[in-house]
Amino acid sequence: MAFLKLNFPVHTADNRLLLPAGAILSNSTLTQVIAANKATSQQTCRLLKHATIKRDLLDLISSPPYDLIFSDKTKVTRIINMLDNFQLPMQVLESLDYFKSANYYTYCHLIKVFTLSALIARDFLPDDREWAKFVSTGPTHDIGKICVPMHLLKKETLLTRAERGKIDHHMAAGYVMLSCFYGDHRHPAAIVARDHHERRDGSGMPAGIKLRRLMVETVIVCDIYDALISSRSYRPDPYDNRTALEEITRLAEMKKIGWKALRSLVALNRKAKPEPRQVTVSIEKRGSPPEHNNYGVFANGENGDMGLKKIS
Ligand SMILES: [Fe+2]
Ligand SMILES: [Fe+2]
Repeated sequence: MAFLKLNFPVHTADNRLLLPAGAILSNSTLTQVIAANKATSQQTCRLLKHATIKRDLLDLISSPPYDLIFSDKTKVTRIINMLDNFQLPMQVLESLDYFKSANYYTYCHLIKVFTLSALIARDFLPDDREWAKFVSTGPTHDIGKICVPMHLLKKETLLTRAERGKIDHHMAAGYVMLSCFYGDHRHPAAIVARDHHERRDGSGMPAGIKLRRLMVETVIVCDIYDALISSRSYRPDPYDNRTALEEITRLAEMKKIGWKALRSLVALNRKAKPEPRQVTVSIEKRGSPPEHNNYGVFANGENGDMGLKKIS
């Protein structure tokens, strides 16, 4: 069995150290850090009652292209009503507060990915309890970015490989944080935070596993979609909606992600809201990506580590 090793420390939004750099994320390490943080991980609070989250969520899903995606008012109202009673650990909500003041893009991204993945998951998890279990992954897939220097998340010029490595720390950091916040390193939210950059063909990060979990893949599809249709520090112009869907389709064609969650996303992007099973995803490529995209391009002359290493 392979375990991850941290190349950077993991701390909470209020700067409390959870694990130092060099820690190996074995079951026993995680059990120890969970036990050490038990006293602070008990309190929960209703997500949509916290601060301005409900208002922000409703605003975000009423702006294009989300207004079309969330245009089935009956279905959306039912989902919002179910989310109204949804509880999360207080430390998760404090982390959202941190992003809201320090990095508003990430705050909005977390809420949009959460709400979109909750809507998509309803297509294949009609049972309320199963769906609620999935939704407990919450708005937290990128929570580990608390452990990434803020200037790197906002950097508009090319990143060095070493800087990219610091950003890539967020998967393992989120895994540790959510293991502590939920008191369980097998909690779905912790698994999603750890695996949301993994791919079916093993080409992802941090461990390069061959991902087979639909729950994680749903968040991945929503994560990529929202990142593409948004302005980013490394790419000032967003992808248009069609080109974004084509890019995700390309990933499915390359067998990096599956088709199920993508089909649901495509169905939601159609006015008539067809059954996802009946949707044929077009593989025609007519879109054009925006110019000035620095993603995946590194500054010259740097040869840093990638933030995480897989060891056995
Ligand atoms: Fe991420
Ligand atoms: Fe993300």
